[in-house]
Formats: sequence, structure tokens, C-alpha cells
Amino acid sequence: YYIGADLGTTGLKMILIDETGRITASRTEKYPIAYPFQSWAEQEPTDWFNALVKGIRKLTKGIAPEAVKAIGIDGQMHGLVMLDSQDQVIRPAILWNDTRTTEEVTYLNDEIGKSKLSELTGNIAFAGFTAPKIMWVRKNEPENFEKMKRVMLPKDYLNYMLTGILSSDYSDASGMLLLDVEKKQWSQEMMAICHITEANLPKLYESYQVVGTLKSDMAEKLGLGNHVKVVAGAGDNAAAAIGAGTVGDGRCNISIGTSGTVFVASKDFKEGKNHAVHNFAHADGTYHFLGCMLSAASCNDWWMEKILGTNDYSMEQNAIEDLGHNHLIYLPYLMGERSPHNDPNARGAFLGLSMGTTRQQMTQAVLEGVAFGLRDSLEVIREAGVVVTFATFCGGGAKSKLWQQMVANILGIEVGILDNEEGPALGSAILAAVGDGLYENVEEACQAIVTVKEVVKPDQEIVEKYNRLYQVYKNSYHAVKGLH
Ligand code: XUL
Repeated sequence: YYIGADLGTTGLKMILIDETGRITASRTEKYPIAYPFQSWAEQEPTDWFNALVKGIRKLTKGIAPEAVKAIGIDGQMHGLVMLDSQDQVIRPAILWNDTRTTEEVTYLNDEIGKSKLSELTGNIAFAGFTAPKIMWVRKNEPENFEKMKRVMLPKDYLNYMLTGILSSDYSDASGMLLLDVEKKQWSQEMMAICHITEANLPKLYESYQVVGTLKSDMAEKLGLGNHVKVVAGAGDNAAAAIGAGTVGDGRCNISIGTSGTVFVASKDFKEGKNHAVHNFAHADGTYHFLGCMLSAASCNDWWMEKILGTNDYSMEQNAIEDLGHNHLIYLPYLMGERSPHNDPNARGAFLGLSMGTTRQQMTQAVLEGVAFGLRDSLEVIREAGVVVTFATFCGGGAKSKLWQQMVANILGIEVGILDNEEGPALGSAILAAVGDGLYENVEEACQAIVTVKEVVKPDQEIVEKYNRLYQVYKNSYHAVKGLH
């Protein structure tokens, strides 16, 4: 058996697959997220660890300890975990959707300069990235910065606890703004800007490489053998892409979860126009583009639960069928936006309200607004010369038939729904199986394990209607920018 674990923003999902790739068990352990101030988002790394221990014990109940061969963990990207010289967590982890670092980001992009940053790392600074967070801690919490011995990403903390080896992988490390992504090595200049050295940072691996085995006390805690291998794992988007079979030039995976992402695999390292999307390393040894929206399914959750006061999502969506006719525009920037605007101050809006506007139209506009936001990223990737005509579709949002049709028609692509959609956790289990040598490489593993069960096709007439609405959507952001 192989364990795949996905350290998400709302919980840790763990699955068990057997040697044929069949999923035999699944568990999710939830933990809280704190928003202590506007634009802050934090979690306790020990909550993640407790969730992992509890979850794995339940997941492997009734299974002989020697039957589990390897573990792969992926996680929410960009988060900053800091440990002191006693390996104690210094402060809560600062998460990917925390945008407190506007000052540091302005310094990096304007003073150091976007072209310099992109020369050093392949990317520019975004508020959620790790390097600006390190700079923020140095300025605002010097006592914590002083104590800091090691910095790492969320899933690297779990791997460190399991193996005692501080490792990271290229896909997740890409989002730190400390890695020269193309060359796959830490950038000396970026470390100097953050006042850290290589001694503070993890050792780098490919996602499917084994970094070590379980420490004896950990093996005991988890009820597993200490022969269990731990692979380096991946950022959650790269793991989700593996779990969706997104391996090979131009393959695309779209996810609507807490964040919304457009992931396009690329054999070579390429940069998108204006640095509007990220250029990261993939978990199969290649590269990828990533457009990331900060609020995706969370826009719909906010609208349904907080505003409408209901959690009957299907009832709210059932009556919506008139795609392409809704002239109400919703801007999904509830937490600012990453791709393509890189604007932590962007805010949500409904535009075009009238006396005739209905609740149903507003629900529809929210779902469409998220799909338009995804299209914004896809357009940047298309401009880089990549042809995308098909995407697998994952995440909580992919369960909605209506959202499936909207994504197909708004992006003008065929949308594949997976047979065994287990998201990033499946990708991590696949990486563990590859690390253990069950498969030759990631591509072979994906071919054996991942299958698309249904393809949702775009309807040309609706696509054209949405093309016109997309122009209105695009102009709306610029029209209201800076007004509030
Ligand atoms: C990607 C990003 C998010 C998180 C979500 O750049 O910030 O997708 O990885 O967990």
C-alpha cells in the first residue's frame, strides 16, 4: 500500500492505494484557520501534524504495518513555517492566502525590480509568496526572526517530523521566490535579500525521490514499520495535476477549490507575459504555468452560506440553465487577486444590478465570475504560445454540473471529469508509488491509474455569447480599480 496525503487549507486528506492503484481507504481531518487581522491567514503547524497522526492511524487500521511501503505528502503552497534551534515552531504558519506583505512585495517588485526577480527566480513577487513573508517577519517580529533556525513550507514540516530530514521538492520550492526555478537551485541573491543562508533552507529533491524513512518514534506513533519510505512530495497544485494525469506538454488541469487554478504542463521552462501567471517546476521533473485565483469555490461558499444563509447548493443551482444570457457581472476578488492582476487590494463587486435582477441571476453571476477569472489566466498562457483545448476539472467546484458547463463554455475547451477524483492526495500516493519503484516514472503511473470518465463539450453558440461577456468582465476590473 501507498499513502497519499494532501495538507489542505481546511483539512488534511489522506488516501490509501494498493499496488494496482485502487483507492482502498480515505480520511479527512479538519483543522481551524485564523484570520487575526484583515488580510492575515494563519494556522498552527502542530494542528497539521496531529491531523496527520490521527488520520494515518485510522486510515491504516486493520492493515499489517509492513504492508505500507511509502508515503507522499503534498500541501498548500507558499506558507511560512519557522522553527527554532530546538525544532520548536516559533509562530503560527503564515498561509498562501495571507496578503499582509504588500510593503515587501512593492519593495521587491519596484526596488529590486521585476526583471531582476524574474532573472533570479523565473517569477515576480506576489503577496502570498514565502520570501516576502520572511522579510515581513524580520521587520515586524525581529525577536522571532532572531530565533529562526529553519524555514520551510507546510508539507516540508510534516516530512521533517516524519523523517528528521529537512527536504523540499522543486514544485513547492518554486513558490518561495527563493528558487531559481529553471536551474532548480536556491538563488544566492534572493537568500541575501531575505537575510538567510542555505543552512536555513531544506535540501532539494524531485517530488518522487525518496528523502528518508520514518523515524522509529514516528513509526511507532503511526503504527507503521520504520522501513516506510517518505518521498519529497509536491505543492498541492502539482500533486493535483499528477492525480489528474496532467503530464505532458500542453496538458491542462483546472481546479476550483478554496483557490482556483489553471495548471498547464510544459516540457521546457517558459514565462508568461507580464509575469501574470507563475512559472514553476512540475512534480514529474518538467515545468508548468500556474494561474491562481485567491477566491474560487470560496466565493460561492460566501454567497450561499454567509449572504443567502443556505447550504443547499444544488437547489440554488438547479433552476439555472440559460447560459450566456446573464448580463450581471460578478468580480470574484474577495481576498484581493493573484493572477493575473497581482493586486491584494482588488475587491469583489456585482455590476449591472437592476430592479429585475433575481437571486438566481446573482448566484449564476458568482459561478460565472469565477470561471471568467480562470479564463483570465488561460488567456495569458495561450499568449505564451501554448494551445489548450482540453482540461481535466477537479476540486469541490468540479462536482457541480453547472460549473462544469460554465468552465467548458467560458474557457472554450473540453472539460474532462475524472473517474477517481481524489485530487492532490492521489497525486501524492502516485509519487510515493513511483519513489518505491512500482512504476518507472510519473507518466507511466498516471497512465496506469488515472482515467477520465466523462467529457463536457463546449457549445459554440454559448461560447460566443460568453466571449462577448468576457470582454465586459475584463473591463470591469479596470473600471472599478481603486474606487473603494
Ligand atoms: C498556488 C496557491 C494555492 C495554494 C492552495 O500558488 O497559492 O493554490 O497552493 O493550497
